[in-house]
Amino acid sequence: MPQPRSIAFICCFLLCATAAAHPSANNTVDILHWWVSEGEENSIGIIQRYIEKQGLGWHAEAVAGSGTYRFSDELRKRVASGNPPMASQAIGYDIRDWARQGKLLNLDNIAEEYQWDEVIPFAIQHLSKYQGHWVGVPINTHSTNWLWVNHAQLTRLGLKQPDTWPDLINMLNTAKASGLIPIAIGREAWEHTLLFESVAAGAGGAEFYRRVFLDLDPTALDMKIIDQIFQRMSMLRNFLDAGAITRNWNQATELVLSGQALLQVQGSWVDGEFNASGLVPGRDYDCYRFPDTQGLVLFNSDQYILFKDHVVEPETRNTFVKTLMDVELQRDLNIATGAAPARVDVPRADFNQCGQQAINDMRAANMRRAMLGSIAMGNANPGPVKNALYKVISDHLMGHISNSQAVSRLAQIISQAPRP
Ligand code: GAL
Repeated sequence: MPQPRSIAFICCFLLCATAAAHPSANNTVDILHWWVSEGEENSIGIIQRYIEKQGLGWHAEAVAGSGTYRFSDELRKRVASGNPPMASQAIGYDIRDWARQGKLLNLDNIAEEYQWDEVIPFAIQHLSKYQGHWVGVPINTHSTNWLWVNHAQLTRLGLKQPDTWPDLINMLNTAKASGLIPIAIGREAWEHTLLFESVAAGAGGAEFYRRVFLDLDPTALDMKIIDQIFQRMSMLRNFLDAGAITRNWNQATELVLSGQALLQVQGSWVDGEFNASGLVPGRDYDCYRFPDTQGLVLFNSDQYILFKDHVVEPETRNTFVKTLMDVELQRDLNIATGAAPARVDVPRADFNQCGQQAINDMRAANMRRAMLGSIAMGNANPGPVKNALYKVISDHLMGHISNSQAVSRLAQIISQAPRP
């Protein structure tokens, strides 16, 4: 006969096991994110796996939109109606906007215990903190100044890695002459701005880029350089195809993947798409730094912010935050995502060739203060400035305004922007 104490023990054991198998609202991680492409879905799956390993429940909702207005509108609606997710994906200056409204949980205790100040690249810390307090949990260091090139087409055309701007133009001319789409691009302003920021960093260099686009310093507006940037953007306009006005970024990636286009200028999430299709760098595709930006890492770090007003147990939140910053999660996640981790201490051995280069570049640029926020992804300056830049860059690339109109509009935006 079992003794009463052992009966109690058995009952408790069964109940506890059931509770862990059916997590309640209190121990379910409830997130909102915008990762919907094939590569991105794989990445979300990795976060889910690590969270479930902790015995927590998982509830994730996706709203497409790459951190742009579609996603932000949905998040704003949820928060305004008193139904925020426990945590949301967020990038760049949007994090500060939420913190300024007093909506975010302060993460200083965990950050201190796990020494985030020591391992997260400085430029990312700048965006994860508000008034010196941690409010964002960075999960990657994506970078945007990359060319993603179809290897078979590169070889067929007898081309090699472009080193300088003239090399790039030569490469694009060769692709065009052979009937390929030289540059595959999508329709959204953030995609046009990705092209612009690489051209701007290449033409102006790190100091120019930092002072104009991060510090918003009107005395740094060198009009000759700005004119050169828009002239170069006009040259690139000749290498886009008519379909650019209808497709999104991952449809553009498909064109490179299938060899209909030679290359795409995009963030390292393209590497995640190629990985998801089983492609191998150096054999099926190549990743090259945008000519004249070698040594610079224009970055976009995906982060999670946590809302104060949520019913979840504090322990669930803490486990979520610690798990996201776990070295092994950041390794597995970013092998899938195509990014470098958001920590400098994640071993690089298991990453592919592009991932290893991304990690080397990130570590070196972090030491030299050459990690600079992406304008397109809102990591460089506040939302109103970003949106004004989107408009002029997109209007110009689509041929609606001339070079000189674009130059003066850009100068006006920077001159009138409040200094951060
Ligand atoms: C960015 C995000 C990347 C990738 C990209 C395209 O905003 O930071 O991780 O998802 O959008 O969807």
